Amino acid sequence: MTQVDYDSLIPNNVNLKEDRRLQRALESWQPKFIEWWKTLGPVAFQDNEVYLRTAVSVSQEGWANFGYVKMPEYRWGIFLTDPLAGKKISFGDHKGEDVWQEVPGEYRSDLRRLIVVQGDTEPASVEQQRQLCQSAPSLYDMRNLFQVNVEEGRHLWAMIYLLHGYFGRDGREEADELLQRHSGAQDNPRILGAFNEPVTDWLSFYFFTYFTDRDGKFQLASLKESAFDPLARTCEFMLKEEAHHMFVGATGIGRVVQRTVELMKEHDTDDVSKFGGINISTLQRYLNLHYTLSLDLFGAETST
Ligand SMILES: [Fe+2]
Ligand SMILES: [Fe+2]
Repeated sequence: MTQVDYDSLIPNNVNLKEDRRLQRALESWQPKFIEWWKTLGPVAFQDNEVYLRTAVSVSQEGWANFGYVKMPEYRWGIFLTDPLAGKKISFGDHKGEDVWQEVPGEYRSDLRRLIVVQGDTEPASVEQQRQLCQSAPSLYDMRNLFQVNVEEGRHLWAMIYLLHGYFGRDGREEADELLQRHSGAQDNPRILGAFNEPVTDWLSFYFFTYFTDRDGKFQLASLKESAFDPLARTCEFMLKEEAHHMFVGATGIGRVVQRTVELMKEHDTDDVSKFGGINISTLQRYLNLHYTLSLDLFGAETST
């Protein structure tokens, strides 16, 4: 079982204390991240205490802490699942060989690209959702929104750790660029199309967490099979948090549909918008949009 160090500036279970260079590099990236969070994270409630779950360990019996915290003071940490002795590569040309603890030269740029693209989606979604706290349908929803946001922030930290820890100078440059691209920016947008679309109303948010976070789960589940073991172990732990994001989407859409159906029955009409409901035809249009945007994330030659 790897030791959790929760007292350091950056909570971690990767023995950061023993690697002063890496620790210094990450500690100098941290203020840039906090600055980014304050400028491009949620537009309001940054000084309020929010009841949030924080990852504190990778153990099966309780991996998270719940408590009130101001979002900029959230303890974003680096957690990898424990290494498995004798672990072998499960797929591809190197199947059956030992997993890699360092990046092999021949796969360096491919792996870096994968990590950068994954990393880019995490802060992008926080940027896309930053206005939503001003129109939350309930406190319950707002808390869920912030929970998703801080965890996407932690997912960025997970990728930053890999870039700083295993990719030297280019990794550090990529880490900085992850905070320089912005969702929807003209000159310097996020890498993938779905992450440049505005998510400014709650129905979009529910569909986004339903479909786009589901794609996130799929991507993490495949990266967790990576031959590069630190990447595999990072993603395995991120999947724990991802489950809640999809829950937010599924239960959000579920509640909307429920109300639509109730109003349709009560008033015997398809047009429930005048009674404060959302028409099925509108729901269908949202579904079409977010489903196709998310499908595009699986990539194609000419895809974003
Ligand atoms: Fe994520
Ligand atoms: Fe997510």
